[in-house]
Amino acid sequence: MKATQIAIFASGAGSNAKRIIAYFRNHSAVDVALIVTNNPNAGVMAIAKETETPCVIMDNTAFVVGDDLLKVLHEHRINWIILAGFLRKIPSKLIKEYQNRIINIHPSLLPKFGGKGMYGDYVHQAVLSAGEKQTGISIHYVTAQYDEGALIAQFFISLAPSESVDSIRRKVQHLEQTYFPLVIEQVIANKKAELC
Ligand code: GAR
Repeated sequence: MKATQIAIFASGAGSNAKRIIAYFRNHSAVDVALIVTNNPNAGVMAIAKETETPCVIMDNTAFVVGDDLLKVLHEHRINWIILAGFLRKIPSKLIKEYQNRIINIHPSLLPKFGGKGMYGDYVHQAVLSAGEKQTGISIHYVTAQYDEGALIAQFFISLAPSESVDSIRRKVQHLEQTYFPLVIEQVIANKKAELC
């Protein structure tokens, strides 16, 4: 077994999950050991099947207390959690046990356009409506509040006056695909170095 076992939590299409799985496929130290979803219709289910990654569907109540979820994570010996388009709050028990080992990606430059209800195209629409000249992605540690944990990294893109929700989504997805796995790898490696 590799030194680090990651669980990816995802509720949607799973483009980030797919990229992260591909990136770590032959990695010497990190394994994507589990996908957790709250949505049995999520695209990420097909990605789990296609990549032969173990996957569990947990109903929304599992994200209230967290005991069942913790049990599953222990069974798979998970030591890092990556939120990749995951739309439920993380139970405080998990936040406590995985302190500074839960990472989220958000498709805007936090603290702008974050918080409850701000996900996916809602974020891009808000950015567009506000007439922003730039947007980007934020990668941050997870706390009990949506999108409020300490920032790890941000990557920026400029917006032209002619942008649409579609064009912003495409540019943001390009940033996510390019940088998210690299940042995950670096954060895990740095934490390991700290502990040595
Ligand atoms: C991604 O753009 C991610 O940044 C965003 O959801 C999308 C999921 O896409 N996350 C949020 O909005 C969290 N508030 P994916 O399912 O294709 O990876």
